[in-house]
Amino acid sequence: MATKAGTSAVRATVPAIVVLSAFAFGSPAFGAAQKMRDGKQVVDTVCAACHAQGKDNAPKIGDRSAWTPRFAKGLDVLIDAAVNGHGGMPSRGGVSQLEREELRSAVLYMFNYGLPPVAPPPEVAKADPRHKLVAGTDIYFGAMPAEAMRSSGQGKAGVPSGKGYYHLNISLADQKTGAQVKDAKVKLRVTDGMSEQSSALSPVVANNAVSYGDFFKLTSGGAYNIQAEVTRPGLPKPIVTNFEFRAP
Ligand code: HEC
Repeated sequence: MATKAGTSAVRATVPAIVVLSAFAFGSPAFGAAQKMRDGKQVVDTVCAACHAQGKDNAPKIGDRSAWTPRFAKGLDVLIDAAVNGHGGMPSRGGVSQLEREELRSAVLYMFNYGLPPVAPPPEVAKADPRHKLVAGTDIYFGAMPAEAMRSSGQGKAGVPSGKGYYHLNISLADQKTGAQVKDAKVKLRVTDGMSEQSSALSPVVANNAVSYGDFFKLTSGGAYNIQAEVTRPGLPKPIVTNFEFRAP
């Protein structure tokens, strides 16, 4: 489909842009004192005035069907339009101090807004191994030994007795709105290479927060692979992501 191909072509340029602007930022052409505003900052403070609501037919932020045909003209043509003004749009959105690079980031931000990220940057995954960002969904993994739950008295009922039980828990937030995702279905598959356990998690409500969890018996002492399958209404297919867990 033409639209799809166009989309991935544009997306494919994004890493190059990031490198480019990092280079420009560090190069002598931009004094060290001058800090580039990122796409979100520029859009929030300048472009959103018209592009949030689509004033005078400005393509709306994140509205792919409005942006895709414009991107067909090429990214540089769009940046030129932002630099010079276009139709009802004043030059540089009316803020003459904006650098071309900043306008470029802003245009990409408006196009990509709300799109599932291509892949989470590896350093993010490394920084917090219990957090994944997939298809516009923040996925957090947590594990709590059943013993700790029994002694703290929280939700005693249903906590299995016996050694080696952990309550494995997934909480979800929508990347765009930051809101908790309360209407998902979550399955976990837990393997240590020898055995496999799986469960369709039940929603767990605590202090008005919803997460999804169940008890698993993890006694191997080794590393477990935790595979979460998250089905969200509105997403075409389930998200599958993996966490590592080692019972201490
Ligand atoms: C005062 C309102 C206003 C502001 C502020 C504004 N725009 Fe626009 N923008 C428009 C309108 C209206 C259009 C549609 C113009 C047309 O196609 O006739 C548009 C279109 C565009 C286009 C598409 C141009 C094309 O060739 O199709 C780009 C890119 C763009 N804006 C970028 C930006 C960026 C980046 C900012 C912030 C720095 C910004 N705009 C701020 C009103 C605005």
